[in-house]
Amino acid sequence: MQNNIISGLFVGQNFVLLKEVDSTNNYLKQLASNSKPLPEGTVIMAENQYAGRGQQQNGWFAEPGKNLTFSILLKPSFLKITEQFDLVRAVSLGVFDAFAPLLGLPLKIKWPNDIYYGDRKLGGMLIENMIQGGQIKNAIAGIGLNINQESFPDWVPNAISMKQILHTDYDLKTLLSEICGHIEGWYLKLKAGKTVDLRECYLSRLYWLNEEHTFKSNDRLFSGTITDVCYNGILKVQNNNEEELEFSLKEIEFVNK
Ligand code: BTN
Repeated sequence: MQNNIISGLFVGQNFVLLKEVDSTNNYLKQLASNSKPLPEGTVIMAENQYAGRGQQQNGWFAEPGKNLTFSILLKPSFLKITEQFDLVRAVSLGVFDAFAPLLGLPLKIKWPNDIYYGDRKLGGMLIENMIQGGQIKNAIAGIGLNINQESFPDWVPNAISMKQILHTDYDLKTLLSEICGHIEGWYLKLKAGKTVDLRECYLSRLYWLNEEHTFKSNDRLFSGTITDVCYNGILKVQNNNEEELEFSLKEIEFVNK
């Protein structure tokens, strides 16, 4: 099924809804590498993903027809490769802003790009950049959000859905349209060079910012406080000896007590 979800200038103008696919990221990547150019802002949504992919080689599981699983094609050739984490910020903030009016203060962005409600995960994203000639030619922003699912299997004890929080069902396409509009807004800010605003806003919405918590790194637990996220996405955590430690993805785990 193909039509558009009117949200803004270009994100969602070309919209494809699939009944079933392995992964919307795989599908969009394949489509974007075909000879015919695909418009920026193309959105692929699936009612069911049978091999959804998550961060760090994990899978992404969502009950068919009840959740949002979609991917957006962006072409941030204006972005320096060293600053590609700004795209993560823009997409995270877009999702955050779409949900904030419904969910309020417990909503946070967990570094690098999970969407959290309290201490539980409402959704996540997998952004894959295709680099060519020193530029990001295509970026596939794959987003999975738990919406109308009422329960989760034991192996995802940390998951939560909108339905579990607000006890109501949501229309998936209406939410998607809202999300696309907000992502477009932040993406255009990034394109206009408003990185200071983008970085400040991302930081201010960060889960565990300026709070002392337990982390795990190299199999060791330690107490620390997130103080900053560097321009390139490196997480800064101050330990109890007032040392400023830096972590990239896979080097640190958040430990909920
Ligand atoms: C994570 O938190 O681990 C990232 C989850 C990303 C899941 C989305 S669902 C749509 C898109 N297609 C995929 O295969 N993965 C992303």
